Amino acid sequence: MKIKDFKLEEYFAKYEFKASYLLCASDCESFSVEELLSLEPKSKNILKNLRLGYTESQGNLDLRVEISNLYVNMNPENIIVFSGAEEGIFIFMNVFLNKGDHVVVQYPIYQSLQSVAQSIGCEVTKWVMDEKNNWDLDLNFLQDNIKKNTKAIVINCPHNPTGYLMSTKKFNAIIEIARKNNITIFSDEVYRLLEYNGNDRLPNMCDCYDKGISLGVMSKAFGLAGLRIGWIATKDTSLLKKLMSFKNYTTICSSAPSEFFSTLALRNKDVILERNLKIIKGNMRILDAFFKKKTSQFSWVKPKAGCIAFPRIKFSEDVEEFCSDLFIKKGVLLLPGTKYDFDDKYFRIGFGRKNMPTGLKLLEGYLENLD
Ligand SMILES: Cc1ncc(COP(=O)(O)O)c(C=O)c1O
Repeated sequence: MKIKDFKLEEYFAKYEFKASYLLCASDCESFSVEELLSLEPKSKNILKNLRLGYTESQGNLDLRVEISNLYVNMNPENIIVFSGAEEGIFIFMNVFLNKGDHVVVQYPIYQSLQSVAQSIGCEVTKWVMDEKNNWDLDLNFLQDNIKKNTKAIVINCPHNPTGYLMSTKKFNAIIEIARKNNITIFSDEVYRLLEYNGNDRLPNMCDCYDKGISLGVMSKAFGLAGLRIGWIATKDTSLLKKLMSFKNYTTICSSAPSEFFSTLALRNKDVILERNLKIIKGNMRILDAFFKKKTSQFSWVKPKAGCIAFPRIKFSEDVEEFCSDLFIKKGVLLLPGTKYDFDDKYFRIGFGRKNMPTGLKLLEGYLENLD
């Protein structure tokens, strides 16, 4: 298999652990082992006695029970656990798509959601979002770009990198277009549960559509990226069987400690989500005030969910140069939009981490010294 370099992940591999302030992280503040264990007094002993053998290939049953509780109509049998959301994307696309299939992909997008399809030889149509419309997806475009060979629509809401969250009406309209044309929807929902107003939360795709697939993960809303636990939920049992079969060639099963911590975290999801949303909302107030003050330098569409946004710079034509100069002078890392193969004027800013205000202050100082 030939696949393009993953620009965003390569950028992170190069800079993430060198930066003093990671101002473009896509996840929430993480937890220590001690913090997680303190959520349940008996858990320390259970962890001590945990056996470190192979685990159930579909995912530990207790974990799948907790995951299925995140949905309305899913049972543990509808869930397959993966090593992060990334493995779920890779395996789904390899199992479901064939050379010559047509796929419509929301754009910009986390790269693997289109690159894996391209590597298989699919024809990919980018469903491009436009800042001028507050990043809102245009349904007419989708309707006009359905072809006889369209096999899947790939969406991601809440969205990386814009923080865009479509309306439930639009979500249902996408399902109707897919249903009429017998198309599968792969819905990347890794930022779900991070809506600032709970009324804006979309339903899960797998609960609403027989050919709907929901992708979830511990990394983003729960702040536990290092566990590398993700999953796919779907009513399509024949697809689940094929995913399981392919997984025997990738990771076979997950790590027992990761499954243990994920189950513990999901049992205590309300506490974890409340803590993470508190950080995000506090940071968002600071960030919103910052961008409202800096309208001559930036254009800003305030997100409705998630912990990342995608502002545009007005003071330079070269966002890579801006990000690189900021990193060299202040040790603050932003992610240029070019890493999404998007426009060269946008950058991703992350606000799920506690130290976001300090990184932002350094950015402010940098801007004051610009000529
Ligand atoms: C939209 C989206 N999907 C999937 C992933 C992959 O998640 P993980 O790294 O936890 O496997 C990411 C990671 O940034 C993401 O932003």
